[in-house]
Amino acid sequence: MKILGIDVGGSAFKGAPVDTRTGKLLAERHRVKVDSPCPTAQGLAAAREIARHFNWRGPVGVGFPSVILGDRIGAVGNLGHNWENKNGAALFGRATGGRVRLANDADAAGLAEMKFGAGCGQQGSVLMLTFGTGIGSALFYRGRLFPNAELGHVPWRGKPFERFAAAAVRKRRGLSWHDWALRVNVYLGVMERLFSPELIIIGGGVSKKSDKWFKYLKTHARVVPARLRNDAGIVGAALAWEHAGG
Ligand code: BGC
Repeated sequence: MKILGIDVGGSAFKGAPVDTRTGKLLAERHRVKVDSPCPTAQGLAAAREIARHFNWRGPVGVGFPSVILGDRIGAVGNLGHNWENKNGAALFGRATGGRVRLANDADAAGLAEMKFGAGCGQQGSVLMLTFGTGIGSALFYRGRLFPNAELGHVPWRGKPFERFAAAAVRKRRGLSWHDWALRVNVYLGVMERLFSPELIIIGGGVSKKSDKWFKYLKTHARVVPARLRNDAGIVGAALAWEHAGG
């Protein structure tokens, strides 16, 4: 199936048509910058621009950085509370002119990695973590997703862990790769204590720079970068359409 995948991020919306049988983008991705936090009207205009760019009229899958309950947007991490409790499928449907299904952005990226990337064929427990503005997470066991695991929100020193170890924190605080990786180690230690995953897949922009910081990680589980790199979110958003029952 050909589905327009839209990956909603804290600083930009990115999209491309995807062939869900091969996991390949059918055109170069289109990226539209947004403010942080992102007003609803601005985000919907970004989605409209992406659909227009590809002259798209077909189905649309959206990976969105919040809890997703069917068509509804639940608790939102960093994008802005203005999005909460809205019917996301209806809003994005009007904006793009297509039928829309939503999934949590990290769940979407995880689906893509399990089908086409680093998790392909993995039957045990797999934890996908995306490091960006926040920390996204997706848990798999025997290839099946446990949806909406918000593991970036596990508390650490009175705050969500993502405020301590997200990729954005490295930039904001001017941390070296080493010092930031030590924070990620603390986080991965807690994740391992809770879930004992056999494989940890790391996504987000920092997964492209794994040579700079993976060497500092100390885990029992094997840790690998996402193989689809930055495309995992877009491919996953398209897969989310099928996953949600399309
Ligand atoms: C949100 C998650 C999201 C993650 C990565 C968190 O702040 O709560 O839903 O998956 O950021 O975007």
